Amino acid sequence: MSRFVPTELSGCAEKLIRGRHATRAFRPERVPEDTMRTIFSLAGTAPSNSNAQPWQVEVVSGAARQRLADALLTARAGRHTSVDFPYSEGMYAQVHQTRRAAFGAELYGVLGIGPDNHTARAAYDTESLRFYGAPHAAFLFVHGDGEARLAADVGAYMQTLLLAMTAYGVDSCPQGLLSFYADSVRTELGVTGGKLLVGISFGYADETAPVNRVKTERAPLESTTAFHG
Ligand SMILES: Cc1cc2nc3c(=O)[nH]c(=O)nc-3n(C[C@H](O)[C@H](O)[C@H](O)COP(=O)(O)O)c2cc1C
Repeated sequence: MSRFVPTELSGCAEKLIRGRHATRAFRPERVPEDTMRTIFSLAGTAPSNSNAQPWQVEVVSGAARQRLADALLTARAGRHTSVDFPYSEGMYAQVHQTRRAAFGAELYGVLGIGPDNHTARAAYDTESLRFYGAPHAAFLFVHGDGEARLAADVGAYMQTLLLAMTAYGVDSCPQGLLSFYADSVRTELGVTGGKLLVGISFGYADETAPVNRVKTERAPLESTTAFHG
């Protein structure tokens, strides 16, 4: 039987991958432009099927970010949702619903919002359209017809981006909710092609905010992964 041999990268990988968490309260300071360019260049090294790199990334900051937040809030108030990738609660198996419920209980518990307080939960979701106060947001579009395999490539890009941010001290929150207003994002940013997969708010965490102390568990290895042979 072979022995577990760490490499020079093992410790870094443990710190980097386990050190990434979703951040839901940010300070207003902007990420320096050269840091942003470094992070997004690194993210672009993500793997994709036949190296097609079927992603288009739109980053908003400053006045553009503010205008987009306003447009998202207006769309939500008018119930003008538009999704490029269909969403339904029914897509989750029971085991996934159980994990989602545990996460929701943890998040809203930290926020002091009770399980049956649907109004407060909806208000919190509405507020999240201001990117949790982050000074920047990145929108990941899947180019072409946005088939599942292309979306999977953009998912690989997303995780590479989140880890690149962590490595450069930048905190983030992927927000599926931002993709529920795809038409508003497209109109505001003048984007024509592609399908919106996800938005990612990023900047520097407000370490004093209790919501940033939310801890998420993971299923045990054996329940998700089988080793054959
Ligand atoms: C595709 C995707 C969509 C997500 N959408 C939201 C969202 O709309 N709002 C939010 O607060 N967090 C959202 N999250 C963050 C997840 O809740 C978070 O990643 C998960 O609970 C695990 O916690 P961790 O990222 O801190 O490890 C999303 C994450 C992913 C990958």
